[in-house]
Amino acid sequence: MQEKKWWHDKVIYEIYPKSFKDDNNDGIGDIKGIISKLDYLKDLGVDIIWITPFFLSPMVDNGYDVEDYTKVNPIFGTMDDVDLLLDELKKREMYLMIDIVANHTSDKHPWFIESRKSKDNPYRDFYIWRETPPYERTSCFGDSAWTLDPLTNEYYYHEFAKEQPDLNWENPKVMDAFSSFIEFWLKKGVKGIRFDVIHFLGKEIDKDIHGYGPTLHEKVKELKHKSFGKYDIVTVGEAWGELQNAIDFSSYENDELDMVFQFEHTSYTNDRNKHGKWTPRPINMKDIRDILFKYQRALNDVAWNTLFVENHDLGRAINRFGDLNYYRESGTMIPTMMYFLKGTPYLYQGQEIGMINIRMNDISEYEDVEIHGSFKNLVLDNHILTRHQFMEACYQEGRDNNRTPFQWANKRNAGWNRSHKPWLKINENYHYINAEDEIKDPSSILNYYKKVFALRKDERYASTFVYGSFKEAYLENENVFSFTREDDKNLLLIVCNMHPYPTDIYLSSQGEILLHNYEEKEIHEGNNTLLPYESFVIKLR
Ligand code: GLC
Ligand code: CA
Repeated sequence: MQEKKWWHDKVIYEIYPKSFKDDNNDGIGDIKGIISKLDYLKDLGVDIIWITPFFLSPMVDNGYDVEDYTKVNPIFGTMDDVDLLLDELKKREMYLMIDIVANHTSDKHPWFIESRKSKDNPYRDFYIWRETPPYERTSCFGDSAWTLDPLTNEYYYHEFAKEQPDLNWENPKVMDAFSSFIEFWLKKGVKGIRFDVIHFLGKEIDKDIHGYGPTLHEKVKELKHKSFGKYDIVTVGEAWGELQNAIDFSSYENDELDMVFQFEHTSYTNDRNKHGKWTPRPINMKDIRDILFKYQRALNDVAWNTLFVENHDLGRAINRFGDLNYYRESGTMIPTMMYFLKGTPYLYQGQEIGMINIRMNDISEYEDVEIHGSFKNLVLDNHILTRHQFMEACYQEGRDNNRTPFQWANKRNAGWNRSHKPWLKINENYHYINAEDEIKDPSSILNYYKKVFALRKDERYASTFVYGSFKEAYLENENVFSFTREDDKNLLLIVCNMHPYPTDIYLSSQGEILLHNYEEKEIHEGNNTLLPYESFVIKLR
């Protein structure tokens, strides 16, 4: 059984700083901008903010290419700004989670600059160099994972862009360096860490083993022992894999990370037999239910779960799980379905106001290194997809869907600098999807999210939502996503119609409705016909 932890009842909000809030009006979000929105976040019900990497970086991959782990990127502000952020969070009983990229650095990192210089440079074996590539491999961003460096005429390995060389975790100096970066931040009062693509740390490059290599878990344990294990923080790993991998990382017994993000429910639409996200397939919500329930059942007593539908790499949740013709209905069904499950709720900036995917007219309007690399690979170089097919996939899965500037208001440039545009195109729908208007509208998606988190935290039910057992309900009805959460205090039933058409459910007793996305409609004992995406939480005992 799990010990109780300070973070078990907390809600975590992901901030992609470039696109969140711009304080100095240069078109790029920044730390001071985040500070100015802490009250907004507190009011929403957020306790912990996870900010994606804000360290010094040439920004080829928007900060996931780190040049110095202990310096703040000047486009985001200064170390003083970060200290001020920590103070302002503290005043509000909120916490900061940082994002540590351990698999690779930027090619501008001083280690790599040294490493390239000569084969006997002391930093040579901080990275992975081979005279000839042992095999062909395509990097996650479309080009070859091996790049020839003319300086020494050897190839270095990069799982991502060529400007993101992979570190050699077989070298103990890499472990020591990361332990000290981590401590540097924890000493400042950071209370959480998200570990980027942590499943790559144990790779055995010559055997072509990349994720989940044989020494992965030893390495994570050692890193914990040498750094974050000494602090009472919360950790989450980004770990693309399967159920068993989640258990291995986060079971109470294994004692590595507190929880991991796994992506079966969001990468469901990626057709793995073809070209993954660039050849998406239609979604069947019953399969999504099966996947999420599988994790709930398996992790119930052995490990802690993450609950999320969006992040900075995925398309928007309403496009994926909902229906734009039932924008508000499906936009409120999604948090009802996700955030009463057992685990820690994570939401991504803009999700709470119902931001949706963008359709840019031309590939040149996109900024993302993955979009451009994959376009070059699949369309220009290899003619595997037509330009049209690629653009259609991009409208669903391209990472820039979630990186468009946060829509603060129905004002020129969505509340960003009026005279010059932000770094990435704004979604034109800010005229009707924006925080300022939604704050005032009691029936907005934003106000529904507030109710979801307020209910989760209501002292009458909080312990049931946090620790109560999970059990699926109405499994025989393929249209509903339904489950109970139970402990000695309460029996709570959650029911969501996952579809844009009605479906019937039979309630064997009358309960007290705690939340309902069709407020005026009645729910009663006996047969109920649920309207499109109708969702509610009811207390049966
Ligand atoms: C993770 C990040 C993604 C980044 C990649 C390489 O998947 O979430 O944004 O591009 O790692 O660091
Ligand atoms: Ca700025």
